[in-house]
Amino acid sequence: MAIDFQNYKTLIIPQGGNLRDIKAYEKQGGYKALKTVFDARESAWTRENVINEVKTAGLRGRGGAGFNTGLKWSFMPKPDGGKRYLAANGDESEPGTFKDRVIFEFNPHLFIEGAIIGAYSIQADAVYVYIRGEYRSWIRFMEQAVADAYKAGYLGKNILGSGINIDMYVHSGAGAYICGEESSLMESLEGKRGYPRVKPPFPAQRGLWGRPTTINNIESLANVPLILNMGAAKYAEMGAKTHPGPVLYGISGHVNRPGVYEFPTGMLITDLIYNVAGGIRNGKKLKALVPGGSSTPILRADQIEGVSMDADSLRTAGSMMGTAGMSILDEDTDMVDFLYRISHFYHHESCGQCTPCREGTGWLEKILKKIKNGDGEMRDLDLLLDLTTQMEGRTVCALADAAAWPVRHTITRFRDEFEARCRKSVFAIA
Ligand SMILES: Cc1cc2nc3c(=O)[nH]c(=O)nc-3n(C[C@H](O)[C@H](O)[C@H](O)COP(=O)(O)O)c2cc1C
Ligand code: SF4
Repeated sequence: MAIDFQNYKTLIIPQGGNLRDIKAYEKQGGYKALKTVFDARESAWTRENVINEVKTAGLRGRGGAGFNTGLKWSFMPKPDGGKRYLAANGDESEPGTFKDRVIFEFNPHLFIEGAIIGAYSIQADAVYVYIRGEYRSWIRFMEQAVADAYKAGYLGKNILGSGINIDMYVHSGAGAYICGEESSLMESLEGKRGYPRVKPPFPAQRGLWGRPTTINNIESLANVPLILNMGAAKYAEMGAKTHPGPVLYGISGHVNRPGVYEFPTGMLITDLIYNVAGGIRNGKKLKALVPGGSSTPILRADQIEGVSMDADSLRTAGSMMGTAGMSILDEDTDMVDFLYRISHFYHHESCGQCTPCREGTGWLEKILKKIKNGDGEMRDLDLLLDLTTQMEGRTVCALADAAAWPVRHTITRFRDEFEARCRKSVFAIA
């Protein structure tokens, strides 16, 4: 069913200005969901009911993997009297992804409210908000918003007279993409080098400081007050059936109006490119699209007709929703250059812990540089594809997969361009 996006009223991005001022947020109904939950927590809104409501709403994590948020919360073990944590992931460092910062800038209290409700539900004592280190201004916005929430009695001891204590800490990253991976984020919060941990044990069993922890993306948590305010049933009706709710589409690249746009999931890719982002700049034609951050498989222009931005539709088309950070490439894009740039990024960001990733990302970059410089040979293409299979699924975290997928899909979907570049080098040698 087509989405009436022209009449859509945004729920996350405020219309007209920002809601950083807590009073402005409250005036628009902000912290209502939190008050309802805390006022009535012994009756309607028990922790289990909140978790079930979020589960029933069908909210899927907006950090990339798209896991059901309520279900993730339900994995936390029974309390044993010790500490428990919620970590909010705002590291967003994957090329093409820049949507959480819109929440920090325009609606930080929506996230804070959702995080407090999340912490209440999983019985966490503290929320750590991990923010990309380069986001200096956005970190300041968040620090101010958290201070205001403490002052208003939404954070700290005995929140709204409920007897519940929840603290929130804003933590700055230091410029490493790998610290967005949930287990290295926890290592980093503990003050250690951002090395991902071997799983199991999963964070719900052994997370921060060895205690039960849930990690959620910022946008995922910002959806929680929306679910409680409108009810799970209504939320579940928004957008794509198996992947509902509002989503922040970060549209960048060769479009006339790049930016972050809020619409329900399930928007047609063509609507987002041509009707929302103003079409391809300079009257050029669309060549390709990376739908959800640089790790998600690239789609050729002829593969996107009728495809919508939700997990099922994108899977059928041969890609993934990821973070809905859409990179649009026009007909002039050199796919060899494009892939080389991406491979450089992943090689640079590999933590170096696992051999297939440390060595594999280096070889991917090296061979692509050779092809880019006109020294490539046909057999290099098969070597690259072989490398991707040697890397995938054999490492501690998914960064190796994230590095392998763009190589595999860009080469298979634009093979003629790579072959043409290799052929040129044969002539150059001859
Ligand atoms: C290399 C790597 C980087 C990641 N970076 C981020 C990130 O910046 N932000 C984020 O929310 N999730 C990131 N993730 C996914 C997280 O590990 C985790 O799945 C997510 O924060 C869970 O939140 P969600 O369930 O609300 O989506 C990354 C994963 C990998 C493998
Ligand atoms: S896959 Fe790469 S980034 Fe992840 S732990 Fe291994 S070496 Fe580090």
